[in-house]
Amino acid sequence: MVKARESWKLAIYRDASAASEAAADQVAATIANESEVTISLPTGSTPLVMYDILAARAARGEIDFSGVHLFCLDEYVGVTPKDQVSLTRWLREAFLQRVGLQDDQVHPLPSTAVDLVAAASEFDQAIADRGGLDLAVLGLGPNGHIGYNEPGSNADSRTRVVTLTPESRRQATAYWEGTAEIPDRAMTMGVGTLLEAKQIVLLVTSEAKADMLRRSLEEPMSADVPASWLRIAGPRLTVIADEAAASELSAAHRGPSAATEERGGDSRDGAT
Ligand code: PGA
Repeated sequence: MVKARESWKLAIYRDASAASEAAADQVAATIANESEVTISLPTGSTPLVMYDILAARAARGEIDFSGVHLFCLDEYVGVTPKDQVSLTRWLREAFLQRVGLQDDQVHPLPSTAVDLVAAASEFDQAIADRGGLDLAVLGLGPNGHIGYNEPGSNADSRTRVVTLTPESRRQATAYWEGTAEIPDRAMTMGVGTLLEAKQIVLLVTSEAKADMLRRSLEEPMSADVPASWLRIAGPRLTVIADEAAASELSAAHRGPSAATEERGGDSRDGAT
């Protein structure tokens, strides 16, 4: 049987700064095209350079975030955006307030609801009511998570509560310089919810992510590496990596030389 060629895009840039510039371009292009835009953006250390670039462009009047609605990717259960250990608060301080997003433009996960199951499904409905996500920018967790879709997350998972792995909790304490106690459960936008986005950008930088990026893109798609499910999005997925993160990809992906151009996906198992 002939397998269809996977059609997601991979763009490899010389360093994290060039990769972040490319990711910022995608955000800017999405916002420029429409008066009302619905997006999701990640927390973490990876997107910080992209946030600096976008904030600088907004300060110069090159991008206008006034029509943007931001749906948060994840939040700890029992934590409100006012709490110190809040991912919503983190994102607000790291980026949203720098580009002038107001509270009514930000949609945090309902992670303090009495009925978390019903509230999670209402959150997905709220995204759908806005016509779906125009763009989801994601980072790649050291364990292959996207948002807080930890290993074991299926491709059709919806927004829901998950139990965090010890590794993810350790990773998160670094965002608060090791001072915070990270809850053991979070609510995360589901893999299936994310896969419905019109465009998905997976931004991956640094050598520390090289093996996980290889597993995400070159191994058969599996719940062991939730990021691998993103390949289901086909041409709606753009993987933006720096040379260091791409260093363990096979020659078919890396090509003969470092480049900033897009390359097609591979033709391995799990083709879309
Ligand atoms: P990082 O986290 O950017 O801090 O490496 C990525 C993630 O866990 O999504």
